[in-house]
Amino acid sequence: MELTFYGHATFKIVSEKGKKILIDPWLSNPSAPKDVDLGPYDFILITHAHGDHLGDVLKLARSSVTEVICIHEIQQFLLKNGVPRVTGMNIGGSYVAGSIKFTMVPALHSSSFPDGSYGGEPCGFVITLENGLAIYHAGDTGVFSDMRLIKELYAPKVVLLPIGDHYVMGPKEAALACKFLEPEVVIPMHYGTFPVLTGSPQALEEELKRLGVSCKVVALKPGERFTY
Ligand code: NI
Ligand code: MN
Repeated sequence: MELTFYGHATFKIVSEKGKKILIDPWLSNPSAPKDVDLGPYDFILITHAHGDHLGDVLKLARSSVTEVICIHEIQQFLLKNGVPRVTGMNIGGSYVAGSIKFTMVPALHSSSFPDGSYGGEPCGFVITLENGLAIYHAGDTGVFSDMRLIKELYAPKVVLLPIGDHYVMGPKEAALACKFLEPEVVIPMHYGTFPVLTGSPQALEEELKRLGVSCKVVALKPGERFTY
C-alpha cells in the first residue's frame, strides 16, 4: 500500500488493489501541498466533526462514486447536506466494503459541528486492507490504556498518531501509545499546523528511547509518501 501525508491529520491511502481512501479530508489545510489528489476517492473516513477533520468533505463527496464512512451523527449531517453515499457506524463495530475492513475504535476527545451542535463521539479507524495489513488512524485523542485492545484485536503494523499536544496527545503520551500498540511504524500527525501544536517527531523519538520502545518513527512532510 502507498500512504501520502497531506498535512495535519489528512492521509491518502492507496491499497494494493488500487482502492483510494482519504482520511480526515482537510485538503485545504495550511500545510497541504499544492498537488493534492482531489479524487474521486473510493472511501472518505471522518474521525470527528471538528472543522479540521470534516474538512472539505462536502466538496469532495458530491458523487456516489465516493462512500463516506463516519459515525451515525455525522452521517445524518452529511445526508442533510446533500452527500449521496454515507455509511454510518459506531464504535466497536467493523464494516466490510469489498475486501477492505473499516473498524471504528474509541478516541478520547470531543466532537461538535462548526455551529456547536453535538457531532457524535469522536473515533479512530483501523483499516484492514485486502492483504491483511492493518493501519490505525487514531483521530484526535489522548492516550488511553484500551489502545492495548486495539493491539490485541487488530495488531496494526502502521499507526498514525497525533503528537501536537494541547488538543491531542503530546510526544510523551504518544510514546506510551506506541508501547501499548507495538506497531512497526509510527507516523506522527496533528503537529506544527498551528503554533499551539508544539510536539515534534524528534521529541517523540526521544520519548520512545526513554521508554525503551523500538518502533520506527517515519516523519512525513506534507506531500511525502510511505510505501509498505
Ligand atoms: Ni478535534
Ligand atoms: Mn483536530
